[in-house]
Amino acid sequence: MLTVAVLISGTGSNMRALLEAAADPGFPARVVAVGADREADGFAHAEDFGIPTFLVPYGQFPSREAWGEELARQLDVWNPDLVVLSGLMRLLPPALVDARAPHIINTHPAYLPEFPGAHGVRDALVAGVSQTGASVIVVDDGVDSGPILAQERVPVLPSDDEHTLHERIKPVERRLLIDVVRRIATGDIDLAAVAAPQTT
Ligand code: GAR
Repeated sequence: MLTVAVLISGTGSNMRALLEAAADPGFPARVVAVGADREADGFAHAEDFGIPTFLVPYGQFPSREAWGEELARQLDVWNPDLVVLSGLMRLLPPALVDARAPHIINTHPAYLPEFPGAHGVRDALVAGVSQTGASVIVVDDGVDSGPILAQERVPVLPSDDEHTLHERIKPVERRLLIDVVRRIATGDIDLAAVAAPQTT
């Protein structure tokens, strides 16, 4: 059974979908803890499922590195096989990424490498594209630059604003995330192989 810790910053609606999937005894992964960098509304979902939570408030640390050290300590308590960033709106410091790589994945509301960063939905709208998407990637030391595990296109409608487009992307993210976690748990996705440097 693959053990998973989820990190969030906000509402955690995608995380809730993962918690619902993982509540099925037939699902090959279980969520052991949910952490956040701020008092996140999504903690309520964890509580609904009886999953422990931990808070590492970014603003209370003198640097990203110091925050990351405490986050690493909290993760070590649960020592999950996989860390899922599900709306964590902070870059992890390299020391934390390097300690757990390649076993950290991230969902992103755009068709990477298009529109990386904190405003993937807004940036797609501003660019005026007719389609954007959703991606699940392996986290590396860059900004949304790791190997892509799954992605799917989502059309942009002329009537879309940031909210309506994001709400249409999220169900796709949820489906991709649940599928990727399942495939990691069953060994169908080998993160070490995906993240290994390519040799020709
Ligand atoms: C999701 O769309 C996720 O991909 C995005 O935040 C949203 C969280 O929604 N993450 C990023 O943009 C990270 N760069 P939720 O809190 O409702 O699950």
